Amino acid sequence: MTSTELPTPRLRPRADDAPGTGGLVDRYGRVATDLRVSLTDRCNLRCTYCMPPEGLAWLPKVEVLTDDEVARLVRIGVEQLGIREVRFTGGEPLLRPGLVGIVAAATALSPRPEVSLTTNGIGLTRVAPALAAAGLDRINVSLDTLDRGRFQQLAHRDRLADVLAGLAAAQRAGLTPVKVNAVLMRGINEIDAVPLLDFCLEHGYQLRFIEQMPLDAHHAWTRGEMVTAEDILTRLSQAHDLAPDVEERGSAPAERWLVDGGPATVGVIASVTRSFCGACDRTRLTADGQVRNCLFAREESDLRTPLREGATDEELADRWRVATLGKLPGHGIDDPSFLQPARPMSAIGG
Ligand code: 5AD
Ligand code: SF4
Repeated sequence: MTSTELPTPRLRPRADDAPGTGGLVDRYGRVATDLRVSLTDRCNLRCTYCMPPEGLAWLPKVEVLTDDEVARLVRIGVEQLGIREVRFTGGEPLLRPGLVGIVAAATALSPRPEVSLTTNGIGLTRVAPALAAAGLDRINVSLDTLDRGRFQQLAHRDRLADVLAGLAAAQRAGLTPVKVNAVLMRGINEIDAVPLLDFCLEHGYQLRFIEQMPLDAHHAWTRGEMVTAEDILTRLSQAHDLAPDVEERGSAPAERWLVDGGPATVGVIASVTRSFCGACDRTRLTADGQVRNCLFAREESDLRTPLREGATDEELADRWRVATLGKLPGHGIDDPSFLQPARPMSAIGG
């Protein structure tokens, strides 16, 4: 069993959940208002929890949505389906040449969604000002260590300096608060927990640790090897005083802690040990135009084919609603019958 708490499943959707009107409602009454869009499955790093060192077979270009196709699906999400937040991810979204235009198209929508980006930071020195000018609201940068050697071991590329420069550029461009995402792995970078927190406190970045999820391309994840939220908090508590932040968590997955009395906080996203599927408000679009109603979904719904065959906005919105109805109650990572999705994180989008 997972710790997911949900209302009793309704076997049939209520009439007001039926496709044809309204937002993205699933059979458990959850409403998806937060859209994650993967803009490419490619990346210039090879983080071990995500990609093998040799990379993956990238999606053929013809299968990847064009900038206009992405902008259209985001517009349908916002105008017809109640999407209020749009986050662009990858792979590495900064590798997408049309990124700034895609962000500008999203921020021009009405009602204006919140628009954010999750990136590894490489290249931000170049584009952070243009992203800010396009209306980007927030940015999350992945950073798992401050040690150059371990960065190279972890990401298979010697790019720590570029990531740090990218973080600083995001802050200079006003994309604040800059958030840092860190994943800890046993015996590899657990010792980076406190240095990462000290670094983020010093620079005014908001640090969040994410429990490693079974989304690696080589299926090497094991529950026993995972560094849990509890492990992370124990480690941080040895150097800092942590007190629960009483601010409402809502559907935000991070549990926040005030550091040394605040106002600085550190977040811990216990995706595995304290899953938050019951409050999930997310829907995902892959770079090749497939709706995934969950990171761990084993099925996807194709929007690209109908889109290219001339479907109307209403027809595409309907397909998205139907795709949402099949959302499972939880990811079941802690269940022995759990099966990892066929696509790795880089192809799904964080
Ligand atoms: N488990 C947890 N987090 C992951 N990320 C990538 N792969 C995993 C995984 N297997 C993180 C990245 C990035 C965000 C998109 O998700 O570090 O910050
Ligand atoms: Fe690239 Fe992000 Fe995957 Fe690392 S986790 S290899 S930065 S897509």
